[in-house]
Amino acid sequence: MNNPNRPIGVFDSGVGGLTVLKTLQAQFPNEDFIYLADHAYCPYGIKSASQVAHRVSEVGQQMIERGVKFIIIACNTATANAAELMKTSPVPVIGVIEPTAKKAFEVSKDKKIALLATDLTVKMGSYQHLLRDATVHALGCSVFVPLAEGIDRDSSDTAAKVANHLQSLKEFEFDTIIYGCTHFGLLDQAIQKALPGKIVVECGEPTASAVAEILTCSKLSQEMQTLGTTTLYTTGSPKVFKDQITWYKGSFLGPYQW
Ligand code: DGL
Repeated sequence: MNNPNRPIGVFDSGVGGLTVLKTLQAQFPNEDFIYLADHAYCPYGIKSASQVAHRVSEVGQQMIERGVKFIIIACNTATANAAELMKTSPVPVIGVIEPTAKKAFEVSKDKKIALLATDLTVKMGSYQHLLRDATVHALGCSVFVPLAEGIDRDSSDTAAKVANHLQSLKEFEFDTIIYGCTHFGLLDQAIQKALPGKIVVECGEPTASAVAEILTCSKLSQEMQTLGTTTLYTTGSPKVFKDQITWYKGSFLGPYQW
């Protein structure tokens, strides 16, 4: 029997999923979270679909063994390759793509949307399929992932690299941009400077709404009314992880070695 008082497991290849975790912590303050940054396998977005699918199943299994009641895949690339985990997991698993695509379709007035995602997410085509009634300009932006993982995210050099990569989108018309990689919220300033005046859709808020529905329907909401805890883990170096997330203001324990 799944126990509502167990923690929720959240994972990403690195720091990007913290943009989702932040929203989850704010919306579900009584829940306990364990967050895994899978740095040993980061980046996911330039690997093959089978490599990522294998790793997603492994991480999911490890989370289940640690007793989570629910798995949130705070990574688009992992979500696009999670069919096996979703099929076999004894606890509910939710990814970020469906809620985010749905939200983008709702908010776009022209139904013309730019998708910024990792090369593998673009290749998998999940967003393009879900948004088949809109015009989607998809751009593989795996080059942004090391910039978001780095500590000089806010430098002019990073802004110039981002602007240069987004140049090719300038010839298209669109009113909405999807950050189809959870790392890209960390480059928000640089992206919005390069592509000003657009509606931006990130994964955190739409995913949190979908999580709320599942927690209620499956009677898995935390019963304790006390403030929950969040514990961060990495498959890489906890020291490096700590230095990478000085911007992360949410309260948490760790980071610890997974
Ligand atoms: N944050 C991940 C996503 O949302 C991808 C980063 C990576 O390439 O590892 O797709």
